[in-house]
Amino acid sequence: MERTEVRAATPTEVRPATPRQRAKRAARNGGEPTLEFTGRIPYDAYVQASTLHRLQTPLSGDPGEMSFLVTSQIMELYFNLTCHELRETQRLLRADRIPDTQAPLRRAALHLEGLNAAWRSLRWMTPADFNRFRNLLGEGSGFQSAMYRHVELLLGLRDPALIRPFRRQAEVHAELTAALHAPSLWDDVLALLARHGHDLPPELLGRDVAEEHQPHPAVEAAWVRIYAGRPDDQFRLLGEALTEVAEGFGDWRWNHVKAVQRTMGAKVGSGGSAGLAWLQRSMARVVFPELWSARTEM
Ligand code: HEM
Repeated sequence: MERTEVRAATPTEVRPATPRQRAKRAARNGGEPTLEFTGRIPYDAYVQASTLHRLQTPLSGDPGEMSFLVTSQIMELYFNLTCHELRETQRLLRADRIPDTQAPLRRAALHLEGLNAAWRSLRWMTPADFNRFRNLLGEGSGFQSAMYRHVELLLGLRDPALIRPFRRQAEVHAELTAALHAPSLWDDVLALLARHGHDLPPELLGRDVAEEHQPHPAVEAAWVRIYAGRPDDQFRLLGEALTEVAEGFGDWRWNHVKAVQRTMGAKVGSGGSAGLAWLQRSMARVVFPELWSARTEM
């Protein structure tokens, strides 16, 4: 499903300015920033910071809980941002604009770096620290993050059971179901390779995309051929950019598991799973599998 693009602030909220207007204002201000506004503060109209800062409602009086809550919210925003870049990449791939995909893929890889750096805000947390507010989270778990599932679905990790928790949230469930039944980024890459002369079997291209793609030797062989070519070949550059994204996402999963180990060891999860053991199984699902396995054959 093509999702609506990021909502722009309404024209009455943010007034555009020309370079000339900016220069005039700076001259009038004598080098100091503007301090008087007639309407809403323009920064807030655009960033909606006042709304954003009203969204933190800790459940305990524990001073550490705020960093757990805000870090989770920051990660949610990064998940959404990553989805945005992956969808843009799909749009360009479908139009055969291969070199243009470098920009959104680079942005996605950098967002994943930012996302991974956010784990630092939780490195202070020992099991005793977490236990001070853990019970108050009840059954709440990142496992129930719809946006994380969107990232997974876009990257080609597809397990219909994982969208079941959202059945009672009609809109969220409809979006996830649509994403499950739409081609993943990897499906788009395979279609691209086939359009550009790589011999991929029809059963691979015509499969039900709701089912997770199974690694195929023909895809692996295509990547081996591509990587044997010129270093500046557009498909090879695409392969490397996709590898960056897969690695960044893999880093998030690894960092998460380490954070879990640090803060609760192998205890059972708040979301009802076995905890660490369940997460380790979940991590075994590989993003863009043939891009990794092909390297053994190069
Ligand atoms: C250090 C604090 C954290 C602990 C102890 C923790 C613990 C867990 C556990 C045990 C699970 C398995 C499901 C279950 O709850 O039974 C899980 C899953 C998950 N958590 Fe966390 N988590 C932490 C921080 C976070 C943060 C900050 C996020 C960001 C939003 C997050 C996102 C997720 C996601 C997306 C899953 C599902 C992973 C998958 O499907 O493979 N977690 N977490």
